[in-house]
Amino acid sequence: MKIPVARPLVGEEEIAAVADVMRSGMLAQGSVVADFESRFADYCGATHAIGVNSGTAALHAALLAAGVGPGDSVVVPAFTFFATASSVSMCGATPLFADVDPETFNIDPDSVAALVRPDTRAIVGVHLFGQPFDVSAVREVCDDHNLVLVEDAAQAHGAEYHGKRAGSLADLACFSFYPTKNMTTGEGGMVTTDDDGFAKQVRLLINHGQSRKYLHSAVGYNYRMTNIAAAIGLVQLGRVEGFNERRIENARYLDRHLAGTGLTTPHVAPGVRHVYHQYVTRLPASYPLTRDAFMNALAERGVGTAVHYPIPVNRQPVYENERASCPVADDLAASVVSLPVHPAVTEEELAYICDAVRELS
Ligand SMILES: Cc1ncc(COP(=O)(O)O)c(C=O)c1O
Repeated sequence: MKIPVARPLVGEEEIAAVADVMRSGMLAQGSVVADFESRFADYCGATHAIGVNSGTAALHAALLAAGVGPGDSVVVPAFTFFATASSVSMCGATPLFADVDPETFNIDPDSVAALVRPDTRAIVGVHLFGQPFDVSAVREVCDDHNLVLVEDAAQAHGAEYHGKRAGSLADLACFSFYPTKNMTTGEGGMVTTDDDGFAKQVRLLINHGQSRKYLHSAVGYNYRMTNIAAAIGLVQLGRVEGFNERRIENARYLDRHLAGTGLTTPHVAPGVRHVYHQYVTRLPASYPLTRDAFMNALAERGVGTAVHYPIPVNRQPVYENERASCPVADDLAASVVSLPVHPAVTEEELAYICDAVRELS
C-alpha cells in the first residue's frame, strides 16, 4: 500500500481540453481564460473573477489594487503558507502577524484587533486547510478602522461561511490552482471581487499596467493566465464539487475511525463548510510517540503524511525583525500532522490508514 498525502486528479478530459487549445494556436491569454473567469465568478457568487498565473500573483495584485504600498502594514495570520505574508512584503509593506485559534487554526479576531496600527491598510484572513475563518468578526475590525478585507482562499474552493462561498466573503479574494489544491490548472490563480474599481485595477496590474495595447498607465506585472491553464481549469471546475464531497466524506470517515487513537481530529466551526484541502490532526503532548517517530512509522506502512506548517511565518529567517509573539502558532507548528484526505483515497485505504494509526497509539 502506498498512499500519498496529496495527489492531483487529472484525466482524459483535461488532456483533451489542453490538446484543443494547442491545436487552436491561441496558447496565451484569450477566450478560454475569459470563459473560465466568468464560470469561476458564478461558482463563487462574485461579480468579477480575474485569472492569473499563481495564487501568489493573485495576492500581490489584490493587495496592490487595495492600495497597499510602502509605509503600510497588513495583518496576516502567523500560521499559514509563506505567500500570505510575502505578498505583503512584495508590495513594500510590512506584515503584522496575528495569532490563530487553537481549534480551527484560523486567524484569531482578538489578536487582529490588538495589532491594528495607524499605518494598517488591510487584513488578509486565510481559509486555512479549507475551513473559512471567522469572517464576521474580522470584518468588524475592518469596519472599525476602515481597512480592506482580503480572503486568502488558496485552499478553499467551494468552502462556505453561513451559506456564502469563499470568494464572495470579503472585498477581494485570492485562489491558487497549484496541483495539490482542491482544483488545479497546473499553476494558476484567480482574484474575485464584487468591486468594479478593484477588478479594473487588478486587470491593469496583471498585464503590465496596460490600459490599452502599448499604453502603460502603471508599472504592472506579467501575471496573466494562459488559455492552456484555463482549459484545465474549466474541466476541473466541473469536477470540483465532486472532489469536495469526496474530501468531506473521507474526513468524516477519518473523524469516526480515529476517535480514541489519541489524535486530535479537525474541529469544524458552526455554520461553515470545511472542504478539507488538508486533514490536519494534532498529536497531544501525552501522545506516546514524537511527531517524527509517528510520521516515520506511518511512512514505513506506506502512509504519506506532512507537516503544514513546521515554522510559523513570523519565525521565518526573512521576518526576523518582525518577530511577534504567537504562542498558538508555535504550538501548532510543533504538533500538527496532515493525513491523506484527497479524493483519490479509497475507503479501503482510509481503513488501512486508521488501522495503522491505531497500531501506534
Ligand atoms: C494559504 C496559501 N496562500 C497562498 C498560496 C500561494 O499560491 P501559489 O502556490 O499558487 O502561488 C498558497 C499555495 O501554495 C497557500 O496555500
